[in-house]
Amino acid sequence: MTDRSRPESPVDPHECPPDLAGALLWGQRRLAGSGVDNPGLDAALLLGRATGTERARLYLEPRRLLDRGERERFGALLTRRAAREPVQYILRRQEFMGLEFEVDERVLIPRPETEILVETALELLRGRAGSAAVADLGTGSGAIAVSIACLHSPARVWAVDLSPPTLEVAAANAARHGVRDRIEFRQGDLLAPLAGQCFSLVACNPPYVGADEIGLLQPEVHRFEPRLALVPPARGEARPDPLHFYRRLAAEVPGCLEPGGWLVVEVGAGQAPAVQRLLAGTFAVERAVRDYGGHVRVLAARPRGHGRAAGG
Ligand SMILES: C[S@@+](CC[C@H](N)C(=O)[O-])C[C@H]1O[C@@H](n2cnc3c(N)ncnc32)[C@H](O)[C@@H]1O
Repeated sequence: MTDRSRPESPVDPHECPPDLAGALLWGQRRLAGSGVDNPGLDAALLLGRATGTERARLYLEPRRLLDRGERERFGALLTRRAAREPVQYILRRQEFMGLEFEVDERVLIPRPETEILVETALELLRGRAGSAAVADLGTGSGAIAVSIACLHSPARVWAVDLSPPTLEVAAANAARHGVRDRIEFRQGDLLAPLAGQCFSLVACNPPYVGADEIGLLQPEVHRFEPRLALVPPARGEARPDPLHFYRRLAAEVPGCLEPGGWLVVEVGAGQAPAVQRLLAGTFAVERAVRDYGGHVRVLAARPRGHGRAAGG
């Protein structure tokens, strides 16, 4: 959901001080004035991009002069960031699990919390013998699918997304990391494009933001990140239900898991008890993993009554 309707005054590159140290401070103040969190870090990242300079060198060569093209590029990048476009979209990069992912407005920017999901999935997969079939439902940038393929070589991965443009980014990230031949990308609704297949592990970080909450999020999120990645679908007159996808996963995933197979989901802060209650009808939740803020962010569950052949 991109709202570019709010006019933002462009940053005038003629006001940029002549050297790196001055430009950095100037950029930081401009971003702070626009309400950007971490204005110093973002100004350094953008100045590094504008001048083709590694971040550390900005501090090692503070008196290095900028040429006109560098000042203009820096001004243009600051204008975008001051309009609250995420720095990851401007740089087209986000690190995740130690891997660099290409990101743009077609995909959600992968979050640190989702690394907990990948770490949990990797631990469960390493506990099983032989190859593993993994499904990543709502793959976005491919962060989960590509990380699992890179970090657990016996895994073959199926990555699904409803959005064709999103899948283009995910496939490019798989190619970038040399795992394109181990990931099948499928367009469609949740498990529909994987009908008839069975998996050792199904991973999912679904849209889980309530319609009432979206406007409360940072402008970077609600103005620029895809709404399809954030908010579950509305049903008729009813408001979107933040738990919509967990209800569906509880009903649909048991039929596509191998004996002992796992469902691993990310949940929003504070959602874990409600999601656990939803899953309880069909799954036994065996792990609940907290983030650094102390919130349970990942649940790992196995269907009730299944065998225990898939490790863990
Ligand atoms: C919260 S994002 C997660 C992206 C990525 N897996 C990550 O963790 O960074 C949810 C993703 O689900 C996709 N999506 C939304 N509804 C879907 C549906 N019904 N079926 C499949 N994918 C869907 C969105 O396009 C989006 O890429």
